[in-house]
Amino acid sequence: MTSLAGKSVLLIVGGGIAAYKAHELVRLLKTRGAAIRIILTKAAEQFVTPLSLASLSGEKVHTSLFSLTDEVEMGHIQLSRAADLVVVAPATADLIAKMANGLAGDLATTTLLATDKPVLIAPAMNLRMWRHPATVRNVETLKRDGLALTGPNDGEMACGEFGPGRMAEPDEILAAIVGMLKPRAQPLAGKKVLITAGPTREPIDPVRFISNYSSGKQGYAIARAAVELGAETILVSGPVSLPIPPGVQMMPIETAQEMLEICQGELPADIAVFTAAVADWRVAAEAAEKLKKTGNAPPGLSLAENPDILATISRDPRRPRIVVGFAAETEKVTEHAAEKLKNKGCDLIVANDVGRESGVFGGDRNTVHLVSTAGIENWPNMSKDEVARKLMERLARMLAPDRKAAE
Ligand code: C5P
Repeated sequence: MTSLAGKSVLLIVGGGIAAYKAHELVRLLKTRGAAIRIILTKAAEQFVTPLSLASLSGEKVHTSLFSLTDEVEMGHIQLSRAADLVVVAPATADLIAKMANGLAGDLATTTLLATDKPVLIAPAMNLRMWRHPATVRNVETLKRDGLALTGPNDGEMACGEFGPGRMAEPDEILAAIVGMLKPRAQPLAGKKVLITAGPTREPIDPVRFISNYSSGKQGYAIARAAVELGAETILVSGPVSLPIPPGVQMMPIETAQEMLEICQGELPADIAVFTAAVADWRVAAEAAEKLKKTGNAPPGLSLAENPDILATISRDPRRPRIVVGFAAETEKVTEHAAEKLKNKGCDLIVANDVGRESGVFGGDRNTVHLVSTAGIENWPNMSKDEVARKLMERLARMLAPDRKAAE
């Protein structure tokens, strides 16, 4: 039984029928030795009482943003920072929507907006509410913001319907809490990781450009994983609509030329991972003014080849110890990757199939093959976050083979 002694959890209880399970969760946390602070939303007070939770936790239960005594004892900002982990259980559709939109109208939401600690949510709602596009959108937003989820489970609901929406059981929430509070190895502490991500934009004229469908999701996930392992993480990114991962040093660029210059300026580095979908060509001569329709033949576009950033950095005298390329292919995936490994001079190619039916472009999952001189390793279909974590742990081990990477 993993002890949580010395750890402190802030539990935010939302207003749903599953709120009664908060009692059991508090009891389980207490048996593990965790310190617990509790916030109840107004709606939660309809289901459980501050008194019952205070008796179980042995701590004061907070309910109001405007409580003079609470603010004197511990301001709400401090409440949001004092914990090692914030847990929202149950996370109702309403609370999830507020969190996804950064609302801060009461103590629970203000605390959630002010916290700089990891947040775990345990959603609970009617299955139609869970499946509603608005909730799906909000949950996606929270995942992108880096929040962790446990549940919901399938099962019989209080309303009599059957399906997903039941809050995870207290022991499942406890397992997720233990997992998140486990001290993580930081095998990349003191190491510098350079990552490129997203598409590049190559201007045609002041209002038009050539680009591609790259979402940047895999590269951003790799940047998050590098930060988790303790690396100084530089993310050189083309235009994407993703939030900047916390702890990452972001270097926004538009063109391949800009991406190359920034990468060169960041050397030396220990590891470089090039996930960017760099445009192979740029327009040879960008028009100074917007091109106009003339009624004659359309203007021809004369293209010039862009620098290959991966190949250039692989051959730089200050080459990072490990250079990783990605190969997005629509056919003969591993054959093309093996060729690329040779031509580009990198240590590892992560090959993936990006054919339209694969759903990789813009999607959240990926099936990759690791191609190196040692051979080909096929990884199962995983979320882009899992691919990122597994890849960074592998690279950390390659950098220091005698040191155990993330436990
Ligand atoms: O040749 P291809 O574009 O398929 O190679 C893919 C790999 O090379 C990726 O890692 C990509 O980031 C990198 N690349 C690059 N600069 C280019 C083209 C590709 O860094 N101009």
